[in-house]
Formats: sequence, C-alpha cells, structure tokens
Amino acid sequence: MIEFKNVTKTYPDGTTALRGVTFSVEEGELLTVVGPSGCGKTTTMKMINRLIKPTEGSIFIHNKNIKEFNIHELRWNIGYVLQQIALFPHMTIEENIAIVPELKKWKKKDISSRIDELMNMVGLEPETYRKRKPDELSGGQQQRIGVIRALAADPDIILMDEPFSALDPISREKLQQDIRELQRKIKKTIVFVTHDMDEALALGDRVCLMKEGEIVQVDTPQNMVLEPKNEFVKEFIGNRKSPWQSAVDVIADRSGSRVITEEEFERRKFDSYGAYIMEDATGNYVSGVKQAEKVDLPVLENDLPLKKAADIFEQHGEELLPVVKGQQLIGTLSYREIVLHLKQHVSTENGVIRS
Ligand SMILES: Nc1ncnc2c1ncn2[C@@H]1O[C@H](COP(=O)(O)OP(=O)(O)O)[C@@H](O)[C@H]1O
Ligand SMILES: [Mg+2]
Repeated sequence: MIEFKNVTKTYPDGTTALRGVTFSVEEGELLTVVGPSGCGKTTTMKMINRLIKPTEGSIFIHNKNIKEFNIHELRWNIGYVLQQIALFPHMTIEENIAIVPELKKWKKKDISSRIDELMNMVGLEPETYRKRKPDELSGGQQQRIGVIRALAADPDIILMDEPFSALDPISREKLQQDIRELQRKIKKTIVFVTHDMDEALALGDRVCLMKEGEIVQVDTPQNMVLEPKNEFVKEFIGNRKSPWQSAVDVIADRSGSRVITEEEFERRKFDSYGAYIMEDATGNYVSGVKQAEKVDLPVLENDLPLKKAADIFEQHGEELLPVVKGQQLIGTLSYREIVLHLKQHVSTENGVIRS
C-alpha cells in the first residue's frame, strides 16, 4: 500500500534526516513509528504526502510512484493529523470538518450527514457542537475533531504525527481507544507517529522503531518485546512483559492427574488410552505414554518461556509434555493450557503487559 524504497533525505543545511529507509505499510494496517526526538519520524510522514521530497530513493502508493500523482488528489486522499491542534480558529467545527469534502465537491447534504456521522462516532453530539468555534471545546475535544476532520472525505491513508502528545493522560487514553475502534471499524491504512513506546505498542499492528534516520526494527508488538533485535530496542522497550514470556512452571499441571508410575504402567497397560507422562519411583521423568505405548518426548525445562514451549508443541505435534527440573518431573503441560493462559492475559493491549 505505502512503500519506501531506499529513501534518503538530506536537508539543504546538510542534515541527513533519513538514511536509506525501506519499509512498507499494508492496506488496512496501523503502523506506529516510534523513536527518539530527531530520529526522522516527521520527515518520513511529510514525504508520504509530498510536503518534502526524498533526496534519493522512491515512495510508492498502490505501486505508483507518488511523484506521478496529481498533488491535490494525493493530498485529498491522505488525512493528516498533527500534534498541534490545527483547527482553523475563525471557522466553526462543522466548517472545519467540511474543508476537504468541499474541495472534493461533495453535495451539501452528503457533507452534512457525514459531519453528523463522524461527530457521533467520537462521542461529540452534533447538535451541541457543530456551530461552536474551536476555542469553545476542550483540548481533547478539539483533537478529536482534528482526527475526524482527517477522516472526513474518506481518505485511503491517514497520517498522524504525535496527535495526542499535547493532551492530558485521560484524553489521551480515550483517544487511543477511539483510534483502535476506528481502525477496527473502518480498516484504514494508518501511519501513527509517537515518541512513546507504550502508545506504539498499544496501538500498532506493527511497530517501526527508528534511530538517527534509520529503521532499527519493524515488528509486531509481541515480537518487539519478545525478540528485540539489539540493545537499543531492548532499552527502548524497557521492562515490559508479555504473557508469552511466562515460564512453563507457572502453568504446569502439578496435580499428577496425567502422571503414572512405571509400576502403574505395567499394571494398567491394557486400559491407558490417553496421553500420560511416566515417572519412576523417585519422581524422575522416564517417558511419555500414548495408546498404552511408551514414547520418547521432548522435555520442557521449568524455566522455558511459553513461546518456546508452544514452538516445541508445534514441531512435535504432541498433546502433552513433561515439565522437568533437571531429571525431576515437576508437572505436565498441554498446548491447550498455554492457549488458555494466553487468553486470560492477552488484554486489549496487543498482548503486552506494562510492568
Ligand atoms: N527543515 C529542516 N532543515 C534542516 N534540518 C531539519 C529540518 N527538519 C528537520 N530537520 C532535522 O532532521 C532530523 C529529523 O527531524 P524530524 O523528522 O523532525 O524528527 P522527529 O520527528 O523524529 O523528531 C533532525 O535532526 C532535525 O533537526
Ligand atoms: Mg516530529
């Protein structure tokens, strides 16, 4: 959908803001771009709607070089939300929202119903707020109008450059929820810039982490936390945890209900059709038992992260595996138990828990 190929930007004063940046945003995806101040986030955004030209490299939208688009068409099909609330102060809220639909020559009636629809979507009653001037709204409400103004003419792409950073934490959280819901409902392609890793992880389908004009890692929030590519990513992520990082012994079944002794195995052989784990008289792991037969199983060390355990289940196709500490059998684990644990802990925050 949006594709950067080897894009470099050097400003006239010699500052190189981007160095050979290559990435793409899929249709309907919300990509968050995060990184320290000055790493090139705004430069990246401004290039997408041609406010800034690359020094080298190319940018494509729908496989067409953006140089080849009519500039108005390009900009009208890209909604842009800025950090500083950029509503026109002398215009009413409805006039502010109507700007691009009017440029696109929509019918008055269609514009009006679009305004109602959008205002309702973000919880601002049209009857109450349509005729107000921006300064008669709170900061959070104004920014909400900024967001729906960017959506007004139904653009394919929405760019948001630190749209919430000037807001208080409560308005900010509310707007983050709005964006997540919007994204679910309308499936727009959104590039969302922030310098806040919490916001990036909470909102992004994928997160693009930048440093000094280069991309360090583009990944899902999960992978960013689980498999940071280097020390810089680790540091930027901080001490966030994913439920995938829990150790297997946290959820291992210690009841012994799927454990049999060698002696029981000999005795009950004829009727043990389920999957069991066999231990010896001292509680050491011996083997698995399936369909009354002994089977070799991979063992899960007690401190193994669930993510790795899930990989082992997938590779071996086993239903039940032993959890051990050294030779000692401390419990059993099934794939199902992993799934249940994750379901419990994966919240709306893309499965990343703040600690
Ligand atoms: N118009 C400009 N002229 C010269 N340097 C600029 C200009 N705009 C931005 N820069 C520099 O380019 C780098 C990236 O800036 P920017 O894209 O705004 O970063 P971010 O949005 O991540 O904070 C910074 O070093 C900044 O000082
Ligand atoms: Mg910026």
